[in-house]
Amino acid sequence: MSLRHLLDTSSLSRQDALAILDTAEEMAAVSSREVKKLPTLRGRTVVNLFYEDSTRTRVSFETAAKRLSADVVNFSAKGSSVSKGESLKDTVQTLEAMGADAIVIRHGASGAAAQLAASDWTEAAVINAGDGTHEHPTQALLDALTLRRGWCPAHGRPPRGGDLAGMKVLIVGDILHSRVARSNVWLLTTLGAEVSLAAPATLLPKGISDWPVTVHHSLDAALAADPDAVMMLRIQAERMGGAYFPHAAEYTRRWGLTDERLTVLQQLQMGGTSEPALLLHPGPMNRGVEISAAAADSPQAKILDQVAHGVAVRMAVLHLLLSQNHDDGSTA
Ligand code: NCD
Repeated sequence: MSLRHLLDTSSLSRQDALAILDTAEEMAAVSSREVKKLPTLRGRTVVNLFYEDSTRTRVSFETAAKRLSADVVNFSAKGSSVSKGESLKDTVQTLEAMGADAIVIRHGASGAAAQLAASDWTEAAVINAGDGTHEHPTQALLDALTLRRGWCPAHGRPPRGGDLAGMKVLIVGDILHSRVARSNVWLLTTLGAEVSLAAPATLLPKGISDWPVTVHHSLDAALAADPDAVMMLRIQAERMGGAYFPHAAEYTRRWGLTDERLTVLQQLQMGGTSEPALLLHPGPMNRGVEISAAAADSPQAKILDQVAHGVAVRMAVLHLLLSQNHDDGSTA
C-alpha cells in the first residue's frame, strides 16, 4: 500500500480500500482471541489529538493502538493549552518534539487533517478522525467492513472478501453536516455499491446533483426502493446555526426510523433473499429522534458490530501506515 496518511476516502483507491478491509479481517481475528495483542508497533507512539468531543472514535483508536503494542498519548483540547490560545502548529510541534509516529486528529475545521499532513510541522503519519463536515474515513471503512460482512452470500460472493458491487445502501438524515455521509458516499461508490440518500431539502448540501447518488425526498419512498442496508444519521445540532426543520417531533415523523418504519424495514430483504436488510448508525444515537429504541435494538441492527469493526479497521490503518513508514525509514 502506498498511502502515507489517511485523510479522506474521496482519493482512496479501490485497491487500498480493499487492502485496509482485508487487513482489518485479520485484525478482527486477533481481537477475538484470548490474548488480543500483537507486537507490531512496539516502541512507536500514537497521539490522539482531539479538538472535538468524541467517545467511540477516540476510545477505538486508543484500543487499536494498544492492541498493536504502541504507546498512546491522548490529548484533548479541553483542559489543554489550546484554551490559552495555543495554535494547532505549536501544539503539533510540541507533540512532535515528544516523538509522535502517528497523529490521529479530530478537528472542527474541514481540511485540518490535510493541512497538518501538508505542513512541515511533523513527520508523523496523519489520520483524519473527522474534520468539520468534510470527511471521517475510518468511520466509512468500518461501515464498509460491516456491510461487507453482512452482505448476502446468495449473490454468489462470499460474506468476506471482495467489494460491495450491486449492494443498495440508503443513508438517511442530516447529510449537509455529516462527514460520515460524505466519506461513505465516496468509499461505498468506489467499492461498487449503489448509494441513495433520503433527507429534507434543507439538510442536503449544495451541489448534491454532482454526487454519484440517487436522492429521495421521502423516507417512505426510499424504503419502498428496497435497500439492502439503511444507515441512519444523527442531527448535528452543534453544527447548525439556524432552523433546518420545524421541531424534533416533525423530523421524527417524516425522517425518523420509527417503529412503523421498522416493520417495513423488517420486511425488506437483501437482494430478494430471506436475509433482512441491515441497519447501521455511526453513533452517538438520539433514540426517539432519528431512530426508535426498538429499531436500535432490533436483530438486524449492526450498530455494536460497527463499534467492534472500528477497532479492527483502525488497527489495520495504523499497522499499514506505520509498518510501511518503518520499513522505508521515512519516519525514522
Ligand atoms: C460521528 C462523527 O463524529 O462524525 N460519530 C462518530 O465518529 N462515531 C457522527 C456524529 O457525531 O453524529
